[in-house]
Amino acid sequence: MNSSFTLRRFFCFNATTASAFASPKKKSLVFLGSPLVSTTVLDALFNASTAPDSVFEVAAIVTQPPSRRGRGKKLMPSPVAEYALDRGFPSDLIFTPERAGEGMFLSSLRALQPELCITAAYGNILPSKFLKIPPSGTVNIHPSLLPLYRGAAPVQRALQDGAKETGVSLAFTVRALDAGPVIACERMEVDDQIKAPDLLALLFSEGSELLIRELPYIFDGSARIKAQPQDDSKATLAPKVIPEESWLSFNEEALVLHNKVRAFAGWPGTRAKIVVVDNENGHHNIQELKIITTRVCSYSNVQGQELDDITFIKDALVIPCHGGTLLEVLEVQLPGKKVQRATAFWNGLRGQKLKKK
Ligand SMILES: *[C@@H]1O[C@H](CO)[C@@H](O)[C@H](O)[C@H]1NC(C)=O
Ligand SMILES: *[C@@H]1O[C@H](CO)[C@@H](O)[C@H](O)[C@H]1NC(C)=O
Repeated sequence: MNSSFTLRRFFCFNATTASAFASPKKKSLVFLGSPLVSTTVLDALFNASTAPDSVFEVAAIVTQPPSRRGRGKKLMPSPVAEYALDRGFPSDLIFTPERAGEGMFLSSLRALQPELCITAAYGNILPSKFLKIPPSGTVNIHPSLLPLYRGAAPVQRALQDGAKETGVSLAFTVRALDAGPVIACERMEVDDQIKAPDLLALLFSEGSELLIRELPYIFDGSARIKAQPQDDSKATLAPKVIPEESWLSFNEEALVLHNKVRAFAGWPGTRAKIVVVDNENGHHNIQELKIITTRVCSYSNVQGQELDDITFIKDALVIPCHGGTLLEVLEVQLPGKKVQRATAFWNGLRGQKLKKK
């Protein structure tokens, strides 16, 4: 908890404010989460815990330690910590262990006597020593229909696979990754233009509702009885995305590329190298371009040839891909510049031609 010092600078502890969060009769719940998207879940818990008939309170928050982010690379608390402090949550009840198995952290957690722990994109493995502490267990909001897409990047991998349906699951946490019994899940159709950050936000919003609905049954033990064990034989893995995956190759089909653009939007994004041909002197310049928004062209290149020229039709760059398929690119971003419509990018070329690299 060496970083609680850093957090303290952001918030002056106020005994009056803190008393609103600490009532001896209510069940203690500990929330673990880190990125902005998990603040939806924390918000729902805060709302539900302040309702007059609420049986629980958020006793502590566990989140990733501050990290260097943004332009100035300043040391910033995690989005969840920042959000909690903004809501007036006492900074000394926000824990930021490097690892959830640290002895000092575990003894602080034990001292709080949490009835239940809730995780939503926390980002650290929870060891058995942790899982043994809350009598009602630890439950996780996982943005996939478990046992599908267990792991760090379920939404990204579902989009990459072109899944037509996905969902969010509320499951007990066990030692094996995302493998615990499922208390409830909610299905959702996947729009073929939606990108990972938006789908993630939708799923966590659904997931918060699911959690609030199921909380009474988790507390009274009936969720433990009705929870369905996962069929491990149907499990698929969703490993975390690595930066190298952001490069697009037009040797793949347009749909494969479109799905990658949607899956890796947000982070790490998708990039391609294209050739800008100067008509006057015939020079070829290789240009790196971030591909922001795409669409699969409804018609294909009938000859099915592998063409090299990138054209512009109506509002899109049209890029020939594998098997005669065509990818329409609607928005791009040049290094160090803002995102722009393909039309603006094309006009900026002033007649220079584009080719695939
Ligand atoms: C601390 O509590 C006092 C008394 O209720 C209140 O007036 C003040 O605004 C609070 N300060 C903070 C930083 O929350
Ligand atoms: C929590 O309550 C606020 C204020 O009523 C509301 O704006 C917000 O949408 C609620 N959040 C959730 C996740 O329900």
